[in-house]
This record gives sequence, C-alpha cells and structure tokens, in this order.
Amino acid sequence: MANSKLSSLVLVILNVFAQVSSKSTIEPCANSDSCNALLGYTLYTDLKVSEVASLFQIDPIALLTANSIDISYPDVENHILPSQLFLQIPIMCSCVDGIRKSVATHYKTRPSDTLASIADSIYAGLVSADQLKEANSIQDPSVLDAGQSLVVPLPCTCFNNTDNFLPAVYLSYVVKEVDTLAGLASSYSTTITDLMNVNAMGSTSITVGDILAVPLPACASKFPRYSYDFNLIVPNGSYAITASHCVQCSCGPGNRNLYCMPASLAVSCSSMQCRNSNLMLGNYTAQQSSAGCNVTSCSYNGYVNGTIMTTLSTSLQPRCPGPQQFPALVAPPTYVSRESTFSPAPAPAPLSHGAGSTTPKTSGIPTIGSLPGFTPASGPIGSSSDACSLMNPYGTFMTALGLYFFTSYAMSISL
Ligand SMILES: *[C@@H]1O[C@H](CO)[C@@H](O)[C@H](O)[C@H]1NC(C)=O
Ligand SMILES: *[C@@H]1O[C@H](CO)[C@@H](O)[C@H](O)[C@H]1NC(C)=O
Ligand SMILES: *[C@@H]1O[C@H](CO)[C@@H](O)[C@H](O)[C@H]1NC(C)=O
Ligand SMILES: *[C@@H]1O[C@H](CO)[C@@H](O)[C@H](O)[C@H]1NC(C)=O
Ligand SMILES: *[C@@H]1O[C@H](CO)[C@@H](O)[C@H](O)[C@H]1NC(C)=O
Repeated sequence: MANSKLSSLVLVILNVFAQVSSKSTIEPCANSDSCNALLGYTLYTDLKVSEVASLFQIDPIALLTANSIDISYPDVENHILPSQLFLQIPIMCSCVDGIRKSVATHYKTRPSDTLASIADSIYAGLVSADQLKEANSIQDPSVLDAGQSLVVPLPCTCFNNTDNFLPAVYLSYVVKEVDTLAGLASSYSTTITDLMNVNAMGSTSITVGDILAVPLPACASKFPRYSYDFNLIVPNGSYAITASHCVQCSCGPGNRNLYCMPASLAVSCSSMQCRNSNLMLGNYTAQQSSAGCNVTSCSYNGYVNGTIMTTLSTSLQPRCPGPQQFPALVAPPTYVSRESTFSPAPAPAPLSHGAGSTTPKTSGIPTIGSLPGFTPASGPIGSSSDACSLMNPYGTFMTALGLYFFTSYAMSISL
C-alpha cells in the first residue's frame, strides 16, 4: 500500500518535470500492461465509418458503440460521416520505452502526403510531423514514397484507469482555438483543478495544439485477469462490444455499474445462459420479501478461451431495482452544426447536435430493457445517490497534492 502510494508520487513528480518541455501529458510506465483509452478526433474530410476505423485500425463496430451511434442502422459501416465531426476513437494504450503511448496505428502514404499533412490534417494534430519523422527514422521528410507504411505514435494515458479513485477512461484531447480550461472542464463534467492535476499544469493557460488528458467517468469490469477482455472499461453514456461481437456492455446513465447483455450482432456465440439457471446474460429476477428484495442476476464475467463466462449471483437489496436504463443512442450523424464544432462535449452529446436521439425499433442496442419480475412501484429508476459519490473525500487530498506540486513546479522554474 505504502509502496504503491510512493510510486504514484514518483509518477506525479516525473510527470511535472516531463511536462516542462512537452505539450502533451507524459505518463511514465514500467510494465507492459495496457489499458483502454480514447482519442478525441476531428474528421478532416467526409469519411465512411469504415474508413475512419481503418485510419486507426480499429473495429468499425467499436468506433460506433464508443460514440453511442446506432449500429442497427442499415449499412452503417458505409455511412458517410461529415467533415469536422468530433469522434471518440477507442484505442489500446500501451507502454513503449517507459512512456504511455499507442503504436498500433499505421498509415499508408498517398502521393500528395507530407509529414505535416498526415500529422495536422489526417490525424488532426494527435501526432506531430516531428514525431512521425522520429518514429519512422525518416532522414529526409521531403522524400516520402507513396505506399510507405508509417507507424503513427498516438498520445494516450492510463493513470490506472482511475481519477480521484473512481473508474475513468482518459481522452486525449487536442486543444482548439476556442477552448479554455474552464470550458473543457464544464464540457466534460470535471473541474479545472482535476484537469490541472491530471495534466500536471502550473497554470490554467492552454495553447492550440496542446494535448490534454481528460478523465471521463466510466464503468469498470471486474473480470478475472486471465480473461481476454480483462481491463474492459466503458465511459459513461456509451457502449462497448466484446467477446467476438457476442456481448455488448453499457455504462450509465444512472449508475457506474457495467451492464452487459447479448449483442444483437451475435451470430455464432457460445452459450450466454447462466449455469443451473434459465437466466441469460443480463437477465435478473427480483423478489420482494419482508427482508428486502432478493435479486438474482446473470452477469458477464469475461471472455476466456473463446468462452463467454457468466456468473449467477444472488443478493438481498433494500429495494428492488427498476428496469435497466441504457445510454441514449444517436443515428449516424450526417452534418455537423456550427455550434458543435466550436464546443466539444462528452459523448454522445457532440453527435446529438446534428442527429438527435433515435429509438430504433429493431435496434442492436435497446434504449430501455424490460426485466423479469420487475415490480413498478419498487423504487426509483436509476440511482440518485451515485452522483454524490463523485464528491469523494479524496478531492481535498488531491487538491492539496496539486497545490504542493504546483509549488514545487513553480520553484523548479525559478531556479
Ligand atoms: C489501480 O486501481 C485499482 C482499482 O481499480 C486499485 O486496486 C489499485 O491499487 C490501483 N493501483 C495503483 C498503483 O494505484
Ligand atoms: C453519466 O451521464 C449522464 C448523462 O448521460 C449524467 O446524467 C450522469 O451524471 C453521468 N454520470 C457520471 C458519474 O458522470
Ligand atoms: C433475458 O435476456 C435476453 C437477452 O437479452 C432477452 O431476450 C430475454 O427476453 C430475457 N429474458 C427474460 C425472461 O426477460
Ligand atoms: C433468494 O432467491 C434465491 C433463488 O431464487 C433463493 O435460493 C434464496 O433462498 C432466496 N433468498 C432469500 C433470502 O429469500
Ligand atoms: C485456455 O486454453 C489454454 C490452452 O488451450 C489452457 O492452457 C489455459 O489454461 C486455458 N485458460 C483458461 C483460463 O481456461
């Protein structure tokens, strides 16, 4: 315990010093583990869903679910997303040479490309021309052969997938001209202090092109370490698809419990029924008794060797839960409103500007599920008490820590 605290202190200190010469958050790392992270990406031109996905070599379905876009929309992978649309790109963040970054993305050059156009336009400032040059050992950037495969190092942070000791996914956000730290804090429902702590900033000033790590509240999985999707974590208001497209998990809006159920895309999947029960993944039964509500649920417990693991658990709760609530889905966006290009908001808000929510009849992702044994008058839908947990007792500690490092940072500059 003492050890891990000490090492995180060391991390913070390293971070403060690394920040001096860098315009993006540097997170030192020691081991080879990785985490789920997001890139804030603004489309440079109209592109199909599948084209955006291949730009980052990710699964188009994962791209859609991360942005709460309705995947049941006909031919959704060929839908054309409008230029200037802001998207959250789900990536794996790994540890390379002691620094957190993503190096899984490769770009195949086209005849008119320059390192600057690839960095600033195609990857929208998430990488710089210098970083491309260095990562690919390019001697002469003016000679860029078409068809060359370049590794595109992308910024990401894990910070143990927590923020103030609550589950969080970090979004790498490229600062735009109109942004202020206060504006970003409010768009992403966080605080200026928190953004400053996370990014080891000495002042609130930000510059166009800076890359900030923005913590998004999330629902974390507790799958066993040996499961394929062990560190699955889903940001509030969105979805993730896992277990070979067989299982979809959502987070929010009412609480921070990851909720997984069979995905509608599921074609050939192993059984999703809990052993010794007729309950399927995501089902539960609730029975009111004098002692409280007896809730039996069948939940997802990770993907192991091609098998969907399920867990049947029974607990006595004070009140019976209401029907499962799902994050709102949006139709695939077709245009970007002026407003949304100037004020990014957390997903799925940026998309809802243009598209509006849909309640598809044959949706791949339900907006409201019905559950067996649900008794209407048994309790509130969602949970209001969860909001309070955001104001956790560690807040002041983090503020104090931030002040301390701010002071030492200021001193280090004046020396
Ligand atoms: C990382 O977070 C987990 C809980 O999600 C916690 O148990 C663990 O101690 C944390 N590790 C560090 C190094 O902070
Ligand atoms: C999750 O998002 C919903 C809106 O989509 C919001 O009402 C709720 O407060 C968020 N929860 C957290 C923990 O941020
Ligand atoms: C259990 O979950 C499955 C899949 O989500 C659903 O189709 C089914 O209706 C549920 N069963 C009950 C009894 O609600
Ligand atoms: C709760 O339900 C389970 C399964 O239906 C049953 O085995 C258990 O005895 C019940 N517990 C209570 C306290 O009613
Ligand atoms: C997965 O399969 C491999 C080989 O088939 C086996 O060695 C391993 O123990 C299995 N893992 C689990 C968690 O069952």
